[in-house]
Amino acid sequence: MYIRTLQPNESKLFREIRLRALAESPNAFGETLQQAQAQPETYWEELTDSVTQPNSHVMFLAEQAEQAVGFAFGLVDRKDAKVGHIGGMWVDPTFRASGVGYALMTEILTWADQQRRNKLELWVTEGNVKAISLYERVGFVDTGKRGVLPSNSSLQIIQMSLRLQASK
Ligand SMILES: CC(C)(COP(=O)(O)OP(=O)(O)OC[C@H]1O[C@@H](n2cnc3c(N)ncnc32)[C@H](O)[C@@H]1OP(=O)(O)O)[C@@H](O)C(=O)NCCC(=O)NCCS
Repeated sequence: MYIRTLQPNESKLFREIRLRALAESPNAFGETLQQAQAQPETYWEELTDSVTQPNSHVMFLAEQAEQAVGFAFGLVDRKDAKVGHIGGMWVDPTFRASGVGYALMTEILTWADQQRRNKLELWVTEGNVKAISLYERVGFVDTGKRGVLPSNSSLQIIQMSLRLQASK
């Protein structure tokens, strides 16, 4: 298994793995499968552009034998240059509990450090113990902020944050 970043010509791969994630884990993400499936090709091309420009958002892909088995986004905060966000973390169920999630997280921590971010934030659905456990393992703590999952208003989401050492 290795990790790489999505490349500018890979909007079809972006769409394919994002739809797999939304189908498999509908309560983990803010967008529904139906919403994503209804989007035109330009939507995926624009998202791909947004994660393949220098010094901006990034999409890390975990691959095994050239097949994508997981991904996560590192997102910059447009208002606060010291803050970054993690989004969309997903690992194919066949490859879970073997360190893929942790490896994706490690890449995002390195990315945030290189960008001199001093805080990372994320939202996770309440009760998503596997994700919360992964986030706590690298030091994320519950900020106390709560929200509602946009794709399922019966579910609460929890904000977690991590202070980074590289604070300047
Ligand atoms: C959350 C998620 C990304 C974690 O991915 P993962 O690849 O399974 O994560 P890891 O393998 O790094 O860690 C998972 C567990 O496996 C354990 N593990 C890791 N490598 C292991 C190994 N080689 N042998 C045995 N156990 C191992 C970890 O200790 C961890 O245990 P814990 O849950 O008891 O803390 C994954 O469960 C997922 O995609 N869930 C659905 C989508 C989702 O909820 N995304 C989060 C949105 S906020």
